[in-house]
Amino acid sequence: MKLLHIDASILGGNSVSRQLSAAAVERLRKTTPDLDMTYRDISATPLSHLTGEHLAAAHGATPETPAVREDIAASAAALDEFLAADIVVVGAPMYNFTIPSQLKAWIDRILVAGKTFKYSEKGVEGLAGNKRVIVTISRGGFYGADTPAAAGEHLETYLRWVFGFIGVKDLEIIAADGVQVGPDQREKALVGALAAAGALPAVSGQRAA
Ligand SMILES: Cc1cc2nc3c(=O)[nH]c(=O)nc-3n(C[C@H](O)[C@H](O)[C@H](O)COP(=O)(O)O)c2cc1C
Repeated sequence: MKLLHIDASILGGNSVSRQLSAAAVERLRKTTPDLDMTYRDISATPLSHLTGEHLAAAHGATPETPAVREDIAASAAALDEFLAADIVVVGAPMYNFTIPSQLKAWIDRILVAGKTFKYSEKGVEGLAGNKRVIVTISRGGFYGADTPAAAGEHLETYLRWVFGFIGVKDLEIIAADGVQVGPDQREKALVGALAAAGALPAVSGQRAA
């Protein structure tokens, strides 16, 4: 079984979402024998923004420059890693109400028509529905439905939509909320989210052992 672990936080050792994604991966490593793991730090080694040259090459044009050829190769590697994975764990911090731009750049490389979704007479069909996807989220504030900031939540809602679009219906979310509210709340959120990561079931939808 293959696991792809992605981290996007720019905060290195101080990152909450990195701590949580590492805890989730550690838990799955214990519950799933022979896990074949790939790690991609998209903050340390970001993919570049999509360009017109990239799209032209994806539609059959011969890449003109070494930079475009390198970009196409990096994009293909990111997509192949994603397609090969049975389980994907994504550490996703909230920056300015949504995902970091590095994570958007990665998403731009994996949402590819004919690979992870297709349009048919029935509408959009996700092609990546066989994957288990776990997202570890960290937010400075609170964005629950009953909070004044609810309408500003574009991290979890966005990721639910994106992964749902490519067929992943049961996105698993582990969240630490209010981590910038104060040290007590940060500790409480971290303890709760780490416990959730440590209780992940071996198989999606099962009860934890
Ligand atoms: C550049 C930046 C922007 C942020 N924007 C928001 C925000 O819009 N809303 C929020 O609740 N917290 C925000 N925060 C707080 C982070 O969500 C919080 O620190 C979280 O732990 C970040 O995840 P990380 O620790 O894995 O990087 C921001 C933090 C940074 C560094």
